[in-house]
Amino acid sequence: MFNNDDILAALNNVAGPDGKTPLPQSGAISGVSIREGKVFLSISVTPEQAPHCEPMRLAAEEALKALPGAKGALAVLTSERAPQSAPQAAPQNAPRGGHGHAPRGASQGSGVEGIKKIVAVASGKGGVGKSTTSANLAIGLARLGLKVGLLDADLFGPSQPRLFGLSGRPDLAEGGALVPMEKFGVKVMSIGFLVPDDAAIVWRGPMVMSALTQLLRDVSWGELDVLVVDMPPGTGDTQLTMAQNVGLAGAVIVSTPQDLALIDARRGIAMFNQVHVPIIGLFENMSYFLCPHCGGRTEIFAHGGARAEAEKMDVPFLGDAPLDAMVRETSDAGLPVVAKDPESPQAKPYLALAEKVRDALNQAPAKKAPKIAVE
Ligand SMILES: Nc1ncnc2c1ncn2[C@@H]1O[C@H](COP(=O)(O)OP(=O)(O)O)[C@@H](O)[C@H]1O
Ligand SMILES: [Mg+2]
Repeated sequence: MFNNDDILAALNNVAGPDGKTPLPQSGAISGVSIREGKVFLSISVTPEQAPHCEPMRLAAEEALKALPGAKGALAVLTSERAPQSAPQAAPQNAPRGGHGHAPRGASQGSGVEGIKKIVAVASGKGGVGKSTTSANLAIGLARLGLKVGLLDADLFGPSQPRLFGLSGRPDLAEGGALVPMEKFGVKVMSIGFLVPDDAAIVWRGPMVMSALTQLLRDVSWGELDVLVVDMPPGTGDTQLTMAQNVGLAGAVIVSTPQDLALIDARRGIAMFNQVHVPIIGLFENMSYFLCPHCGGRTEIFAHGGARAEAEKMDVPFLGDAPLDAMVRETSDAGLPVVAKDPESPQAKPYLALAEKVRDALNQAPAKKAPKIAVE
């Protein structure tokens, strides 16, 4: 079996981020761990270096895989967290880098082997319940009998490990692909499985691209009917990378009913329109308050804002879920409400959302002649 010294010796032949200094001496190695014969390596680079670092990352991975007795290797690029979170591009910048790059439409399949449809769950702003909705939607789709994956694309603040109560590192399959973790019938992959909780990482531009590509394509998803993607908030690099590099079958926009959130939701819808990703619809989360004591409903905000907004924007309205302590508690406990108590009134809106998403995907033009479902 090899040890740390063998790892550093193997990496000696790989040039670090400056293109000259061997990686072990470059100071860029921010973490090495060995688990069951598999090597995980994180390399810290600056945003300026990042565009040139993909060959280095690959070379490091190859060098580690070649260690006698190594069962696999995974190298990821990380960067120190900047004082502010990474800038989110404004929607008018949406086609940045995308000129002449025709986005794939819903009709073209996902472009990722084995995955039939990819659905993005997005919002204009953070904290509206996108991750909660993604988790419950994915579990709901699995309950409908679909083969479901969930990609946590929020590289800045991954939530799915907590929501699913999953921790530890994913296994590496033959050939080095990451094996997604599986729970509640959903295959989950998150950057949170690859880097420690407190690892300072901010991925930008090309790094976002490289990390997302790894999380999406270097994963043994197997056959999936649908991959749900939990997006970071806003209209930044991740959204554009996804929209431009894979075929998104559609986007679900999550919003709370307040005007401010709705303005951001509108921005999100505009961005997806701009890159020709069909909007499956708008879902209103934390819509009204469900009293845990009397079961009564209180409209805290101007409830119905999202429905009105959906009508105005001419996109389907996908329902509303209450602001409810049980939703938050179950999420924090790693047991989302649809998994914990699918019969509860709190789970119903998310299950209904899953049915609507499934129906929308069935309607989206497929490569083959569409099946006509008789209900
Ligand atoms: N319907 C809901 N009722 C109560 N709390 C919720 C609800 N949806 C989300 N939350 C809570 O709000 C916070 C933000 O939700 P999260 O899903 O992480 O949002 P986002 O991914 O949009 O940032 C979390 O603490 C979550 O548990
Ligand atoms: Mg989130």
